[in-house]
Amino acid sequence: QVSWKLEDHPKLPKGKTVAVVVLDGWGENKPDEYNCIHVAQTPTMDSLKQGAPEKWRLVKAHGPAVGLPTEDDMGNSEVGHNALGAGRIFAQGAKLVDQALASGKIYEGEGFKYISECFQNATLHLIGLLSDGGVHSRLDQLQLLLKGVSERGAKRIRVHVLTDGRDVLDGSSVGFVETLENDLAKLREKGVDAKIASGGGRMYVTMDRYENDWDVVKRGWDAQVLGEAPYKFTNALEAVKKLRENANDQYLPPFVIVDENNKAVGPIVDGDAVVTFNFRADRMVMLAKALEYPDFDKFDRVRFPKIRYAGMLQYDGELKLPSKYLVSPPEIDRTSGEYLVKNGIRTFACSETVKFGHVTFFWNGNRSGYFNSELEEYVEIPSDVGITFNVKPNMKALEIGEKARDAILSRKFDQVRVNIPNGDMVGHTGDIQATVVACKAADEAVKMILDAIEQVGGIYVVTADHGNAEDMVKRNKSGEPLKHKNGELQILTSHTCLPVPIAIGGPGLAPGVRFRKDVPTGGLANVAATVMNLHGFVAPSDYETTLIEVADN
Ligand code: 3PG
Ligand code: CO
Repeated sequence: QVSWKLEDHPKLPKGKTVAVVVLDGWGENKPDEYNCIHVAQTPTMDSLKQGAPEKWRLVKAHGPAVGLPTEDDMGNSEVGHNALGAGRIFAQGAKLVDQALASGKIYEGEGFKYISECFQNATLHLIGLLSDGGVHSRLDQLQLLLKGVSERGAKRIRVHVLTDGRDVLDGSSVGFVETLENDLAKLREKGVDAKIASGGGRMYVTMDRYENDWDVVKRGWDAQVLGEAPYKFTNALEAVKKLRENANDQYLPPFVIVDENNKAVGPIVDGDAVVTFNFRADRMVMLAKALEYPDFDKFDRVRFPKIRYAGMLQYDGELKLPSKYLVSPPEIDRTSGEYLVKNGIRTFACSETVKFGHVTFFWNGNRSGYFNSELEEYVEIPSDVGITFNVKPNMKALEIGEKARDAILSRKFDQVRVNIPNGDMVGHTGDIQATVVACKAADEAVKMILDAIEQVGGIYVVTADHGNAEDMVKRNKSGEPLKHKNGELQILTSHTCLPVPIAIGGPGLAPGVRFRKDVPTGGLANVAATVMNLHGFVAPSDYETTLIEVADN
């Protein structure tokens, strides 16, 4: 039984409004022309940095510090917000799947049993992101899974690939498809009928999130389930090469692979098994709903095949979605949000659609909904749909800033928490100029929030979930930008492994509060205890330690 009562902080008062601002994709890097945060005018964030070392510092946001397998794993929003909200480091999906594959436990669970009953007489479909980005999925895990299922009796396998170019370099889809094709050819030599059946770019096909645009999921459904798409090819490698002439990896249109009679080689039909092999939740939840829910009105499914479906993980612990899964998700319990609400902290959270679940669902340990709707209000500002955000780099930063400001000035909330998406969402487009504009917009939103905090005598905590906009090129070991063979720069659309800033301040910050010097390796998971302190509480003893102390003077 959990004791939810938090102890009072011996030195810090209660009753201050605390703004928790998460800049998405905002890391710290050396200044140069590819550091968009440096190039942009960001007077507010610059002024916070002046507070170093007592009021500004860096924290780790990648690798083991956020529960990822290795130091080479860049941070991402899921693990970043999980750590920020939960105050502890949980082994994350990437790592849990690695372990389950290595130990073979993945094949012993209920989820695998369930799907494997189709192996004899039906097709196993694997749907997911094809890259080694390690954010939503990993190619080596797919390879191990293919090997594992074929050794355990899968006779007919169809892979539905989503090309990346967002967590990895644009253009890398070609190599990944080649690798997969080789693997499938080897399986065919062993008598397994294994093929790629369909594909499309992740941002245009299937991997929408937070119900921003169901058309994205529908395009995937049509190709994967119905075997229908505007483009038909007999070979996936050819498909990707051809479609890349007019779109980059993230946005390839949907295609299906057909046989010599122009018939789709792998629609999903009654009796088949389906596994969505992404471990990360946000961009699989919508497809999971379409695959699992008998009652569904988000688009016309045309056919709703009777399948056995399992996720790589269970994606939503509250909805228990999907009900069958191969690997148990991290059990992120007792999050700071839940503690604070149970200790009376009235909480407001806001972002625009594309990041809304980050400050709610991820923050609360991959759990949708409120802990106590009387004390909480979550506001989603609708994102623009059907554009790439380099076209509108300001996104809804201003609107998020305004909502946060109003929430602060209303004095109805003790915590006002936002995610400002610009650095990340525009950074992912690889458009350097637009990302500079994006960073400026994010900085302006921070200013609005800090001004409101000033007016109510509150406290602010400004931080980020991982790096992105601070580095827009791929570099060699000595840090020099790399070029493609044709002389063009290798644009980095992905996140980085760089640390992120955290700043504290505001008129409500008690005198003497400063960053401790004895937590030099602090990471995002240390932020929750810090925020609890600023609300006047001591964090639970198993939380990662607070970053602040109160000096007597
Ligand atoms: C995405 O899903 O957009 C990227 O793969 C990761 O971005 P995020 O972790 O910032 O959401
Ligand atoms: Co991102």
